[in-house]
Amino acid sequence: MKFFITTPIYYVNDLPHIGHAYTTVAADVLARYHRKKGEKVFLLTGTDEHGAKVAKAAQEQNKTPKQFADEISAQFEKSWKDLNIQYDYFVRTTDPEHEKYVQNFLNDLFKKGVIYPGIYEGLYCTGCEAYKTQAELVEGLCPDHNCPPEIVKEKVYYFGLSKYREELTEIIEKNQLLVEPESRKKEVLNFIKAGLKDVAISRTQVEWGIKLPWQPEQTIYVWIDALLNYLSAGYRYWPVDLHLIGKDILRFHAIIWPAMLLAMDLPLPKKIYVHGYLTVEGKKMSKTLGNVISVDLLIKQFGVDGARYLILSSLPYGLDGDVSESFFTRKYNADLANELGNLVQRVVTLASREKIEFTAKEKGDLPKDLIEKLDKCDFVGALGEIWKKVKAENQKIDREKLWSQKGEKLEKLLKEHLQIISEIANDLEIFMPQIAEDITNQIKTLKPQVLFPKIK
Ligand code: MSP
Repeated sequence: MKFFITTPIYYVNDLPHIGHAYTTVAADVLARYHRKKGEKVFLLTGTDEHGAKVAKAAQEQNKTPKQFADEISAQFEKSWKDLNIQYDYFVRTTDPEHEKYVQNFLNDLFKKGVIYPGIYEGLYCTGCEAYKTQAELVEGLCPDHNCPPEIVKEKVYYFGLSKYREELTEIIEKNQLLVEPESRKKEVLNFIKAGLKDVAISRTQVEWGIKLPWQPEQTIYVWIDALLNYLSAGYRYWPVDLHLIGKDILRFHAIIWPAMLLAMDLPLPKKIYVHGYLTVEGKKMSKTLGNVISVDLLIKQFGVDGARYLILSSLPYGLDGDVSESFFTRKYNADLANELGNLVQRVVTLASREKIEFTAKEKGDLPKDLIEKLDKCDFVGALGEIWKKVKAENQKIDREKLWSQKGEKLEKLLKEHLQIISEIANDLEIFMPQIAEDITNQIKTLKPQVLFPKIK
């Protein structure tokens, strides 16, 4: 059994923040879960480095695009290592192997007769790296970037997307390509129903990118370049089992991407799961507003596993929601310091005082309820299952007045608690690998240590 899972590849115009981590940590938890089941897992992540947006950001810092991309890409790799993400491959779209793959793929598409030359005259938002229609603007502005799109007129090549309308509809309706949650599947189907236009796959006005092999004055459209990372780096494991993405990039993944694969008679992704968007203090994160919560900051405040926990437990994964540093601090103190940390501390301290001899029973599979939630990407629900046990344990200890028990009764109760805590550690492992290990060690050595220092 294999499990191939991807995150989007991140634009290098931005430093890694909790929005990026929202996808990456989830992907890591799922990858760890499938590894735990004994499957051969391939978790792919990386950076998206070409295009006008990145070139512009590089220019603003007086750097060449490549130099700039090298620096930010390294930051992403570092952040993911810091967050204990066990990725199997980190792809960069400036990797020569990727560039070669993209050119070959486009050559093959061209040979299939699904690409033709033309002129694109219309709107383009560099912030989105996407073609826009008037209907998508709000008072003339791109609603995501609050700025007017450029008006462009340039020679391009088109991909004949429109002719895949029926085929795509059927594939998505019949779940041959699963799009989850259901609301996102409806959104895609409605969009396709309204009509599909052929899409430009190259640009003349953009320098920074991969050249069209048969027409090197044109640069391959950054989204076509980017989507192909899944194949250039993952062809050995194709088809992919799960593309994890944010709602902003649904159409690229559920329409253009499968159509490209259909054109080449390649198998389709099995599933696309679409998560919601995080805002911070009610607003989109932005440098100008100064409300960006970086991965570095989150780790500094809450530790690696604290950060992983907060990212996944704060909002239901399919929905949008708001977070803030103060919200994270309250949640950290309540769930981690007071509930989980306190539970382990109380039991291990007493067991150590009583010199309890204890070996935990063999670690078992994850409980059924937890598995059901994980299979639905319901991380809040999955963690909720674990916290039910944590809370029940704390309540039981209070009811028993464990600290005032003595002798054999105390020994028996402590052994029961140590066993349940070791099961909790087993359940927690995919979410909080280091903490799970620390708990298991404390149970073995009976040396109590503070897992989550309280934050004032
Ligand atoms: N480079 C493209 C993706 C190409 S994939 C073939 C891109 N990059 S991005 O860096 O702008 O964002 C990628 C993903 O990061 C989003 O789809 C989403 O998964 C995640 N997020 C970035 N900001 C986010 C929030 N504020 N909230 C939640 N997720 C967000 O798009």
